[in-house]
Formats: sequence, structure tokens, C-alpha cells
Amino acid sequence: MTIPAQPRAQDNAAQNHLTIPAAWYHAPEFYEAEREKLFFSEWQLFCHEALVEKPGQYVAYTLAGRPLLVLRGKDGQLKAFHNVCRHRASMVLKEGVGTTQVLRCMYHGWVYDTDGQLAKAPGFGGDEKDLCERTHLFNIHVKSVSGLVFICMAENPPPFEKALGGLVAALQGSGIEGFKFFSTASHPMKCNWKTYIENYMEGYHIPVIHPELNKDVDFNTYKVIVGDRIARHETGIRPERADVAQNSGLWVWLWPNVAINIYKNGMNLEIVMPTGPETTELRYCYLFRDVSEAAREENQRAIDLSFLVTQEDVDIVEIVQKNLSAGVYHVGELSPRHENGVVYFHDLVRGIHAK
Ligand code: FES
Ligand SMILES: [Fe+2]
Repeated sequence: MTIPAQPRAQDNAAQNHLTIPAAWYHAPEFYEAEREKLFFSEWQLFCHEALVEKPGQYVAYTLAGRPLLVLRGKDGQLKAFHNVCRHRASMVLKEGVGTTQVLRCMYHGWVYDTDGQLAKAPGFGGDEKDLCERTHLFNIHVKSVSGLVFICMAENPPPFEKALGGLVAALQGSGIEGFKFFSTASHPMKCNWKTYIENYMEGYHIPVIHPELNKDVDFNTYKVIVGDRIARHETGIRPERADVAQNSGLWVWLWPNVAINIYKNGMNLEIVMPTGPETTELRYCYLFRDVSEAAREENQRAIDLSFLVTQEDVDIVEIVQKNLSAGVYHVGELSPRHENGVVYFHDLVRGIHAK
């Protein structure tokens, strides 16, 4: 079927920036290129260190189709492996967060120590000692800074400092080092990871999509400051809501897929993990200054608002995704007043596909 000739957005768009093309949000070749050139090649923020504080604590998440495992070893060091057993390729540990003293594969029960070395292959037969000596989980690189754990799947990782960009400076004074773990949450979405991220990159939709959040935010002061791989959203809070507003108005995004949302009493680390060309898993980790029973209700109020806002965002990005795939829309124009963050994100995405 062909679509009748329509005026094209770019015909009248000499001044304004255009979006990246719709095909980049659904065609498998663009997803494959982003997996290879970005998610498998660069440093990626994987989880908060609060989830892997004590020996044996682990996080098993899948990033861009690769199951990964980060854990605190018996020696107190962070370790990271591909969560793939060297026997017949099962995941060693089930996806999720937990504590274990040994890494016992869920399929035939091979046991790896927390360094990734095979320690036992029960009932295997033959020379088990020799098998153990030459069998190790696939290592990946891991580093942490300010309680944020990064991994890199490349054999020779690019410079870590460059990957952090302006993140550490942007978070200075936010108090995130003092926050303690409260809870995690996960939201599956039917959209490309970029559809969700670019929704995050602008406050333009807040008055329309987020009526509750909009009660707190002074939209006239809203701005997004971009550069050095980060975007910082800053907004004033309406004076009449100063006492009850949960959001402190500091939200920081780090290229490509991470946001750190600072609340009045805590934060949410938000990691947008692609799972397919048109599917994405949103991973949340909530931390608060006070995680005692006395603060539970107040903390829960911040999470309830976060869930409400997330649901509103997920609903709209899934609608947008349908239209990006429907074959009618090709590119659109971006607001010079409100969508500079989207322009910045698109420029970085273009850089990946130009490689
Ligand atoms: S696949 Fe892991 S023990 Fe067989
Ligand atoms: Fe939103």
C-alpha cells in the first residue's frame, strides 16, 4: 500500500530540528547496530551498589538480550559475568535480585565460586578436577562510582571517565551518597528504548500527561540543561506546594539510558534496558535518607507518585511506538523552547549510527 503524497514536516522546518527517522525505533537493523556499537561496546550503568553491598548479594538483569550478573564476591570485591553457564548455556541464576553463597546453575547444578571459577560439576563423570580448572564464567568489566555500578562487555573498554561525562558533578550536593536502599520495581513496556528516553528528555508533556506532577512543578521555570553526555532537568516547585511536593526538581539523565531522579527525601535510579526493537524493561531502584519504619509511609508516598507518573509515561510512549511503526509518520519538528534535550539525545544516537 502506498500513502498519498502529504506535506512533509521538513519542507517548512528550516529553523527547527527534526527528529530521527521513525524506522530507527522499530527496524531490527537499527536495534542490532545499537546493541553492537553502544550497549555491548560502551560502559553501561547496571544497578545501584546498595543491591550488592554484602558478599553473596547479586543482581541478574538482561541488557539488550544479554543476561548479566553482578555480585559482591567473598573477597568483598564487585564481580561481573555473563549469566550464561559454560555447560549448555542456561542462565546460571534466575533473573532478579538476591543473595547466594555459590552460583549454582539452575539446569544441571554446576557450581561456580563467586570468582566465576567452576568449583563442582556434580555427577558429570570423567576428570571433574580438570574440568573445573579450565572452566570459568565469561568475565565482564565492572566499576562503581558514587554508589552506581557500571559494567562494560567490551574486551577493551573505552575510558570510564568519558562514559561518566558530567554525571558526578551534576549530582554534587544532592546527598545521594547518604541514601539507603528501600525497594526495586520493574515495568515492562511495548516500545523501543529511545521512545521512552526521549519522553524523559522534555518537560513539554508534563501539563498534558501528568496532572498530579504538574500541581508541584512551576512549568514557567522548567529547563533542561544538556552537555557532556548528561541532561539536567531543573524546575522550581510551586510555592503553595513546597511542603507537600515530593520532587525536589532535580532529574539527571546520563547517556544512553539512565535517569537519576532526586526526591525531597531520596531518589529513584531508573535504568531503561532494551529487550528488543520494540520492547524495553524499565528498572527502578528507590533509596531514601531514612528507611526506618517511621519513614515508611512518607517514602511510600514518593513511590506512589512515581508509579502514577510512570504509568502515564508508559501509556503515552506505547501509543507513540505504535505510530512510529505504522508507516505513516517519518520525521517531526522539535520545539526550540522545550525539546533541546531531545535534540541532544538524537545527536548522540546519530553519532552511533554514523559509526
Ligand atoms: S547448563 Fe548449567 S549445569 Fe548444565
Ligand atoms: Fe513524563
